[in-house]
Amino acid sequence: MTPEHIAAVKASWEQLRPISEQTAFLFYTRLFEQHPDLHGMFRTDSREQGHKLLAMLDTAVASLADLDALEPDIRELGGRHVGYGVMDGHYPLFEDAMHWALSQGLGDGWTADVEAAWRALFGRLSRTMRAGAGPAA
Ligand code: HEM
Repeated sequence: MTPEHIAAVKASWEQLRPISEQTAFLFYTRLFEQHPDLHGMFRTDSREQGHKLLAMLDTAVASLADLDALEPDIRELGGRHVGYGVMDGHYPLFEDAMHWALSQGLGDGWTADVEAAWRALFGRLSRTMRAGAGPAA
């Protein structure tokens, strides 16, 4: 991620902080509306799931300047996702729903630069998680 990406993600994450739970809720609602077949994979209720996702993203945003340090944890997260039934092809669906939820939460703050910055972050997270999942299924 470039320094511009890092600054844009950090600033927009702060903007979302007061409405992070609603944004997480929007994300799951969108994901399951668009892909109802994915719902069965999730065992925990979406509120608790949302908290885990937000905590993970909070850590990632705090570590943007040195994501390499988080790499082993992100790879392990990807390994656990294999156990949840997640496959490579699910990652773009997850990212699309996430970008949509971020765009709703940020409103006018969702500019082309902000979008590019979040795409860079999720691209990196997804690549690392998929690498941790082992050879593509
Ligand atoms: C950048 C991408 C992703 C991130 C950062 C992420 C993050 C997380 C986190 C932090 C957890 C909590 C459990 C744990 O730590 O093992 C989790 C669980 C889970 N994720 Fe993801 N995830 C991503 C992609 C996906 C994708 C693509 C899917 C499939 C559509 C998915 C489905 C699940 C499921 C089914 C669970 C377990 C739910 C449960 O316990 O009921 N995730 N994810």
